[in-house]
Amino acid sequence: MARNKTLKLKEFKEFPNTFENPTEIKGNWGKIFFKNNNPIVLELGCGKGEYTLGLAKMFPDKNFIGVDVKGARLWKGAKTAIENEINNVAFLRIYIDHITDYFAKDEVSEIWLTFPDPQPKKGHIKKRLTNKKFIDLYSQILSKSGSLHLKTDSELMFEYTNEVIAENKINCIRQTSDLYNSDLVDKILSVKTTYEQKFLEIGSTIKYIEFTL
Ligand SMILES: C[S@@+](CC[C@H](N)C(=O)[O-])C[C@H]1O[C@@H](n2cnc3c(N)ncnc32)[C@H](O)[C@@H]1O
Repeated sequence: MARNKTLKLKEFKEFPNTFENPTEIKGNWGKIFFKNNNPIVLELGCGKGEYTLGLAKMFPDKNFIGVDVKGARLWKGAKTAIENEINNVAFLRIYIDHITDYFAKDEVSEIWLTFPDPQPKKGHIKKRLTNKKFIDLYSQILSKSGSLHLKTDSELMFEYTNEVIAENKINCIRQTSDLYNSDLVDKILSVKTTYEQKFLEIGSTIKYIEFTL
């Protein structure tokens, strides 16, 4: 690992708003970390956590947790939260594949998937964060009324997710293949992540799906 990344990972582990494979937090985020019973919203594959931070500022009465495996990216989100005193935010470094080890049934009120890797290789379909394997994990932690939001630039990811929704008779609430030229766009959907900014610069259209499980 490059020195810069190693240093960031070391700092990440020392920040007060970060967790790495924590034990005993499952079912206890409100009690142990946030010190309240406010709803918990996850951003999965959050990278530097722009959605986590953006929504946390908009909704001080909710708690937000950015989840990713890359410590150097999470470092940026955690440091920004500390510097700006955004206290309704935490960052969790784990593989999303193990998400049910860290959240209890119904502990999560909403999930955001922001620009997940489309994993175009056939052999990698199971790594797509909207693969049925992951949907089954989300359904174990997401409350009944809770929404899943997907934002992506990828036609493949958009079509694939719609196929998963149709095949599994999942309830799609709303969707668009061109968010910024649709009437769905609002303040919440206009938060832009690092990857989204890059995709917009090269002229990609942004797709969006909201569904419940
Ligand atoms: C394309 S990046 C998008 C990052 C950020 N959401 C953005 O839009 O700028 C995808 C992120 O998902 C994370 N990721 C992909 N699969 C994961 C998994 N199974 N567990 C944890 N993180 C994962 C990667 O580490 C990466 O940071």
